[in-house]
Amino acid sequence: MSLTTLDVEFCRRHFLALGGSQIFFENAGGTLVPEQVIDRVRDYMTESQVQPAFSFKSSILAAERIRQGTEAMAAFLNADPAEIVIGSSTTSNVYVLSHAIRHWFKPGDEVVVTNQDHEANNGAWRRLTEIGVVIKEWQLNPDTAELELADLEALLNDRTRLVCFTYCSNIVGSIYDVKEITAKVHAVGGLVVVDAVAYAGHRSIDVKTLDVDFLLCSLYKFFGPHLGLLYGKRKLLAKTQNQCHDFIAHDNHAVRLNPGGICHELGAGAAGITAYFDAVHRHHYPGTNLGFRERLDGVYKLFATHEESLTRRILQFLAAKPSVTLYGRSNANKDGRVAVISFTVAGKSSRKIAEQLWAQGVAMGADDFYAARCIAALGVDAKDGVLRLSMVHYNSHDDVDKLLACLDPLI
Ligand SMILES: Cc1ncc(COP(=O)(O)O)c(C=O)c1O
Repeated sequence: MSLTTLDVEFCRRHFLALGGSQIFFENAGGTLVPEQVIDRVRDYMTESQVQPAFSFKSSILAAERIRQGTEAMAAFLNADPAEIVIGSSTTSNVYVLSHAIRHWFKPGDEVVVTNQDHEANNGAWRRLTEIGVVIKEWQLNPDTAELELADLEALLNDRTRLVCFTYCSNIVGSIYDVKEITAKVHAVGGLVVVDAVAYAGHRSIDVKTLDVDFLLCSLYKFFGPHLGLLYGKRKLLAKTQNQCHDFIAHDNHAVRLNPGGICHELGAGAAGITAYFDAVHRHHYPGTNLGFRERLDGVYKLFATHEESLTRRILQFLAAKPSVTLYGRSNANKDGRVAVISFTVAGKSSRKIAEQLWAQGVAMGADDFYAARCIAALGVDAKDGVLRLSMVHYNSHDDVDKLLACLDPLI
């Protein structure tokens, strides 16, 4: 019989790191890893840590395991394996991409970046001023802490070449309508680069439906090893400049756009992410025979509903504290936000509160989280930052009970 709500205890059993007394609310900084991923990394290093280029047994096995990881990540985004590049991180992938498409720009061309994005999808693009590109900033509305479409529309024109924006901020957690924004940018002849890093652990991503040109996310934020994933439309990747050895075949984007090469054991481990999703699906919907995308969507729907219920409790708790300023939506509705909650407390240092939480076994963060432009635009003291509580599906209502008990006397 199918389960209609997430069996959180079943999920938690896959994450060995959840065994201790610490409660984990720092998922936006990086999620924990299920045994399916750890097993694959260990198996690779035990049995096939050799050059994956030859036809001896362990080399064939190595190549096959890396291929499975790449295919899993392509399926995760609904892309073709030839349309993805796995690199060491999103920051590194954006940096390389910004160099690989430099020749697309001429002086006077315009690139739009936001003051909400993490620096990864920001600084590398701003450096295009070096070749005469004009940078325009899509600024968040400080009253809502959100980017508004009308403000973007005012920046778009026939010189707009690229708009780089976030699917969901790692500070504020609001979800943007990427499909609609992309259509607006395409209408003036521009392209989009979407940072989906803070989104991928919470909702499924379908690059084909969104019609995005480039999209990035980091595997370690959705239960995988510490790697970054770049999707690019095939016809656009074909126009990028090689960032690796001259002799690499032109259609081998995975290598051309990753000058340092991939960490093989982690690339193989990536297949464990989708294996975990499949295990969760089998447990909740036994005996069904669905394609991967339907299974992925089904699992993410369970995650989203559970995360919404956790988020609602924390938002209600914070709303009752007059000393608290929340950045972003006070409504937990899963269509509008993910389970990333940032706030400050009047007259108190975020970092000091965090230290008191850490001492009680609450893992969370107080920082600008490399989104310093967003922090400044929200009017927060840049040195002290915000307190951020970020959850994913394996957080339990027990975790929230413990968190609130620790937080209450501090705020
Ligand atoms: C929204 C967002 N974008 C980009 C990044 C950078 O990702 P990476 O560490 O893979 O470079 C982060 C990391 O925290 C992030 O939260």
